[in-house]
Amino acid sequence: MAEIKITNLRKEFGVGEDRVVALDDVNLEIGGHVFVSIVGPSGCGKSTLLNILSGIETPSSGTVEITQDQKDAHPGYVFQSSRLLPWRSVMDNLLFVQADPSSKETKERCQRYLDMVHLGEKGDKYPDELSGGMQQRVGIARAFSIEPDVLFMDEPFSHLDAITARSLRRELHAMWQETKKAVLFVTHDVGEAVELSNRIIVFAKGGHLVDDIDVDLPFPRDSSDDAVAVAKAGVLRKFEELDLLAT
Ligand SMILES: Nc1ncnc2c1ncn2[C@@H]1O[C@H](COP(=O)(O)OP(=O)(O)OP(=O)(O)O)[C@@H](O)[C@H]1O
Ligand SMILES: [Mg+2]
Repeated sequence: MAEIKITNLRKEFGVGEDRVVALDDVNLEIGGHVFVSIVGPSGCGKSTLLNILSGIETPSSGTVEITQDQKDAHPGYVFQSSRLLPWRSVMDNLLFVQADPSSKETKERCQRYLDMVHLGEKGDKYPDELSGGMQQRVGIARAFSIEPDVLFMDEPFSHLDAITARSLRRELHAMWQETKKAVLFVTHDVGEAVELSNRIIVFAKGGHLVDDIDVDLPFPRDSSDDAVAVAKAGVLRKFEELDLLAT
């Protein structure tokens, strides 16, 4: 089981008058087959948190531990843009991140994940021959294809039109349920967070973790379901109470 333990995490950028506190004394534990969303206004430290968890940034103080059955875990990432290599075919983009790209098992695994995002026939295409939504699906297949213990996603659907984003959310959720991964998902969109998550972590400006909300509704959820709308209104009310909408 994957576990993330964040203890007294602080991150500052810059010095003197330019100093910014991006994360301030964040404590958080996440474990098991969970889908956790991180929401909050722009600049509240969401990407910084994911970047620290991914090893792209280092903490100013505090610790993060990501383990799988007490050993170091193997994480995967999906960012806002798909970050595909334009000079490699779709299949080669998946193979590029594999430990053993030439083995038959690896190729079959990559094909399986391309099939899961309904791009099984597009392995020979190059990224610029695909739509933005398809490229993002390749990015998701690539992240899952390394079979990570935990998946970090930073606003992966925010550049997409509403219909494409909706279908990708469904695909992502089906893959999450099938693969039993832990997912940590950053979004601006409270509706998206309520639709996808078991748990919603709320950040406020200054990098403060201000709320931790369980969303105890069965999956699949649809934004038009009454219970989902009620849960979304509840989270937005908490935003108002915390004065996050004004920021
Ligand atoms: N490399 C950096 N150098 C200096 N300041 C940074 C750097 N990265 C982030 N910051 C600052 O840290 C704060 C948190 O930024 P971060 O990108 O984590 O916010 P965010 O919640 O992801 O915002 P958004 O929703 O707009 O993506 C912001 O004030 C930002 O300007
Ligand atoms: Mg961000």
